[in-house]
Amino acid sequence: MTRRAVVKGVGHYLPERIVPNSEFEKTLDTSDEWIRTRSGIERRHFAAEGQTTSDLAYEAAKHALDNAGMSVDEIDAIVVATSTPDLTFPSVGTMLQKKIGMTRGFAFDVQAVCAGFVYALTNANALILSGQCDTVLVVGAETFSRIMDWEDRATCVLFGDGAGALILKAEEGSGDNTDRGVLSADLNSDGRYKDMLFVDGGVSTTGDSGKLRMQGNALFRQAVEKLTSTAHTALTKIGLNDDAVDWIVPHQANIRIIQGTAKKMGVPMDRVILTVQDHGNTSAASIPLALSVGVERGQIKQGDLIVTEAIGGGLAWGSVVLRW
Ligand code: ACO
Repeated sequence: MTRRAVVKGVGHYLPERIVPNSEFEKTLDTSDEWIRTRSGIERRHFAAEGQTTSDLAYEAAKHALDNAGMSVDEIDAIVVATSTPDLTFPSVGTMLQKKIGMTRGFAFDVQAVCAGFVYALTNANALILSGQCDTVLVVGAETFSRIMDWEDRATCVLFGDGAGALILKAEEGSGDNTDRGVLSADLNSDGRYKDMLFVDGGVSTTGDSGKLRMQGNALFRQAVEKLTSTAHTALTKIGLNDDAVDWIVPHQANIRIIQGTAKKMGVPMDRVILTVQDHGNTSAASIPLALSVGVERGQIKQGDLIVTEAIGGGLAWGSVVLRW
């Protein structure tokens, strides 16, 4: 028998305010047509004034607990992926712990920008496989609207706010790739690419939180190659190839990157969960949001083989293969 981290519940939350592309036409030299054709994005959600990352995380976590039919007392640990915390410290994880009324166990944040959820999921899986925890709440939550330069048309039209959450629980599996749960992971980073995507402020530099800066074109060229490669590595580790994939649940940064990666993997687009049109790029929240929406739409079903893949600032990139 092999210990597995199996998904027991999923949930998401999007702030009420929906901003269509046309809003940006009022203040920037841009158009709905440019944004749609270059990125696939049609609208995104922005958090209300005073609404924080831990507020979004709380709503998503509540939905995931409801979906799992679990009480908060059953959760041993919380891992939150975010690059837009409420405060420099404490972690969004501990703030979420308080908000959901969890008075035992532990909570922490993982920061790997858009690859954050893949990193968080891998860490949560390791906590379960090591026997440290039986049940882990894994959250991706972001308020990227707070780090936008509203005068930079090349970035501010691309991002949105939101949160998604999964609950993983230990179960015994047979040890082969037919088991439910996390089956393999592949994580990578390369700090030499820092200038492609970064925030130009921070505690030990400017003392403020800064604004996002991106060389979109250069990043685009890295993305398809690295995403395909990490997905293949994770699949190969468990003796599977692209044909086994029921769903690619990609980081939702750009429809053209998503299409390019699916094509290179030989997976048709009707087996890719797409939310980029409605959410924009929500960084670490995009994969759990897409998983939750995919389940809600009736696309993802128990037993399906899912490949998640993401790339973001660092650069950091990776992939997790799991059976739902
Ligand atoms: N409206 C109109 N024109 C614009 C806009 C805009 N909003 N933004 C840029 N342009 C212009 C540029 O100024 C440029 O004009 P020029 O040719 O006169 O210089 C032209 O459009 C083309 O710009 P490119 O950057 O070459 O456009 P591209 O086709 O590469 O699309 C985009 C830009 C959408 C950013 C794309 O490069 C991309 O998606 N890159 C990857 C970004 C990414 O994946 N980021 C997320 C990963 S990491 C994370 O999620 C945090």
